[in-house]
Amino acid sequence: MEAISRLGVVGCGLMGSGIAEVAALRGIEVLVAEATPDAVRAGRRRLTASLDRAVERGKITGAERDAARSRLAFTHDLGDMADRQFVIEAVAENPAVKTDVIRTLDKAVADPEAILATNTSSIPIVDLAVATRRPDRVVGLHFFNPVPVQRLVELIPALTTSTETLDRARHLATAQLGKEAILASDQSGFVVNALLIPYLLAAVRMLESGVAAADDIDRGMELGCAHPMGPLRLLDLIGLDTAQAVARSMYEEFKEPLYAAPALLRRMVAAGRLGRKSGRGFYDYAAPGVTA
Ligand code: 3HC
Repeated sequence: MEAISRLGVVGCGLMGSGIAEVAALRGIEVLVAEATPDAVRAGRRRLTASLDRAVERGKITGAERDAARSRLAFTHDLGDMADRQFVIEAVAENPAVKTDVIRTLDKAVADPEAILATNTSSIPIVDLAVATRRPDRVVGLHFFNPVPVQRLVELIPALTTSTETLDRARHLATAQLGKEAILASDQSGFVVNALLIPYLLAAVRMLESGVAAADDIDRGMELGCAHPMGPLRLLDLIGLDTAQAVARSMYEEFKEPLYAAPALLRRMVAAGRLGRKSGRGFYDYAAPGVTA
């Protein structure tokens, strides 16, 4: 199968920067788009810092970092995606924003054979596919945070996705990016979030109802079940706003109370306590270990 040599990544937040980093380290030339010049600067800083950390931790050499950096280019104009063979959008988990991005990409990317992938965790892939003129060439490619560490990618064909598109997406994710792929149907939450989100929301309800303190809930799952991090620490990593958005899509899909975001989660998002990215969530990252 033809390898992808010109990849586009739209969005350089937690997920987009991780996808771009992995691709650049594995020899792919990546054009990263953000919405504004300021967001481009922030995204570039995030990527540079992550590559520098990888060198400090002995994961890669300085030469590998420099080679990866030379393969990364940045833009705030989606029109620059014209020559891409494959574009992955990883913008905010908001149906209107994602639809707008995918529609703009469809017009911008010149090659009608080029594939548009979405890193959505919960929005129906088919809704995004039918917003384009290439519904057979739109596919879900769902990565996990932190992308350089987590080995999984979920592959999600929409009802409209062609077999060839699915095969090319699988080839990029596995042979080129080095991930393991699982196949899921286009149902909100796919495999992992369908199981993970109700568990995370249950932990928030447990905290809300006073059964245990945040650190006790987390240590319970870390020490009792060998999870690398407990549910509230994990929510802080994912971002409470992202988790709330995923829960909302899943609730809309299934109308099951177990997917309804608890009041505490909604209030924390309203207060800007989004987790690590805002410096405070269930834990205060200015003073680690202190519960919010
Ligand atoms: N980039 C590259 N490498 C990283 C990294 C990053 N951002 N963060 C951590 N690492 C590496 C470290 O170098 C280290 O490697 P080593 O063991 O070979 O030295 C290893 O990962 C462990 O890192 P640390 O020792 O610094 O920290 P921890 O042992 O506490 O691990 C963690 C941190 C990897 C985040 C681990 O706690 C973990 O895997 N947590 C669970 C994360 C998870 O469940 N993610 C899925 C979220 S759901 C999702 O993303 C879906 C979305 O739709 C909501």
